[in-house]
Amino acid sequence: MINFFIKTYGCQANVADSQAVANFLVNLDCKQVYSEKLADLIIINTCAIREKSEQKIYSYLGRLAKLQKRNSLLKIIVIGCVASYKKKDFYVRFGFITFVSGSRDDKNVLRDKLIDIVLSMQTSKSLLVPNKKDFLDNQDKNNFKLGGVRRETRHSTQSFINIMTGCNNFCTYCIVPFTRGSEISYSSKEILEKIKQDIALGTKEIFLLGQNVNSYKCPETNLNFAQLLEAVAKLEGDFWVRFVSSHPKDMTLDVIKVMAKYKEKVCGFVHHPLQSGSNKILKAMNRSYTLEKYLKQVDWIRNYLPDATISTDIIVGFPGETDQDFEQTLEVIKKIKFDNIFSFIYSPRKFTKAAMLKDNLSYEQKQSRLAILQKIQVDISRANNENYVGCILKCLVEKEAVNGMLLARSAGNHTILFDGDLAKIDTFVNIKINSARATNLIGSLIE
Ligand code: SAH
Ligand code: SF4
Ligand code: F3S
Repeated sequence: MINFFIKTYGCQANVADSQAVANFLVNLDCKQVYSEKLADLIIINTCAIREKSEQKIYSYLGRLAKLQKRNSLLKIIVIGCVASYKKKDFYVRFGFITFVSGSRDDKNVLRDKLIDIVLSMQTSKSLLVPNKKDFLDNQDKNNFKLGGVRRETRHSTQSFINIMTGCNNFCTYCIVPFTRGSEISYSSKEILEKIKQDIALGTKEIFLLGQNVNSYKCPETNLNFAQLLEAVAKLEGDFWVRFVSSHPKDMTLDVIKVMAKYKEKVCGFVHHPLQSGSNKILKAMNRSYTLEKYLKQVDWIRNYLPDATISTDIIVGFPGETDQDFEQTLEVIKKIKFDNIFSFIYSPRKFTKAAMLKDNLSYEQKQSRLAILQKIQVDISRANNENYVGCILKCLVEKEAVNGMLLARSAGNHTILFDGDLAKIDTFVNIKINSARATNLIGSLIE
């Protein structure tokens, strides 16, 4: 049996792609392992969003080089967004890499290569060598692009489904349109079929994924995102559905209305990336919305979904960001009181328009802005979380936490720690919240 290990960097689109690869390899009779040392085949799914994300890949490959020296039969495959534009560099710099396939490359080539690699490894391991044609016949092509859980009896609660790929927005700082290519929506029929299969296999939480889910449009039926979300929510079964990312440019009230109508199924959580509170910077970023439009959408969420949580992404230190622009961002985050913010220092990226812009700030100034923003947000997150003390929240139990407690997640995406039996993992439970911190809630199980 061939053991494979997948290391995934980056966003949930990469998580979905990794799930698809894992699913495919399991169907080829390979076994997923959770330590590099046990693996015959390692797949690294790369992210290019910031310079640091890319550096992480190189240091990881440096560590794998040592492992490869000890086990020359080890095969290493690099996929994902860095692989989209650094293919040659990978082969040159890391001679031990077997194959490189970028996010926008033909997935069928990767499928065929995986089959060839697995067959040759099985031959060298002198195991039963199945017929290549049977391998191909057993594969469902759609699963390879959509993601989703594995076709095996092992329970898997989270299903990551790409409803689309690529991006047409060309935010001036962002490399994604170059690494993933143009936006393509997948067939709603295929998406719904895949989700039904996953629910039958025990999935409890479905993530609908796209760089801008609000611009989803089914290529066959013209179904829009609100309609797709409703179709998913209407499926039979005990599950939650979430989506990322929504884009303020294209978000519609219809989506919020569907969330409100099906609030038992659609999680009351909106990750709604703002990026900056300054209209001048939003324009320079080519985000195509104003702060006023964003605030109106937040009002929709608050009015239709009073219990929903909202998180966002903020970039600090975009070229031309003055003290005043940064102040405006701080004002907005104090006003909206997000439940969580993912904040980043602007990182110039290859191919992007902003990379040509003159930088007006030192790295230290950017770091200081990031620290100011994060400090304000910690207090806001803690205060928001304290509102839950005494409440009972329905949660999905994910795993055992490092401290031995169980870790669960609420519909609002809170991480909740509680004491309980391992058998509760993968089930929905009700938890009474006893105390709150900025990053998580602590509670006790209501039997
Ligand atoms: N499609 C999503 C974002 C995907 S990338 C959207 O449009 O909202 C995730 C986040 O990474 C972005 O929201 C942005 O905040 C951050 N990001 C992207 N490019 C970046 C860069 N060059 N430097 C710093 N942060 C960046
Ligand atoms: Fe990047 Fe903008 Fe597309 Fe998001 S919408 S992936 S930030 S180009
Ligand atoms: Fe990274 Fe590619 Fe996602 S660059 S954030 S893995 S789309």
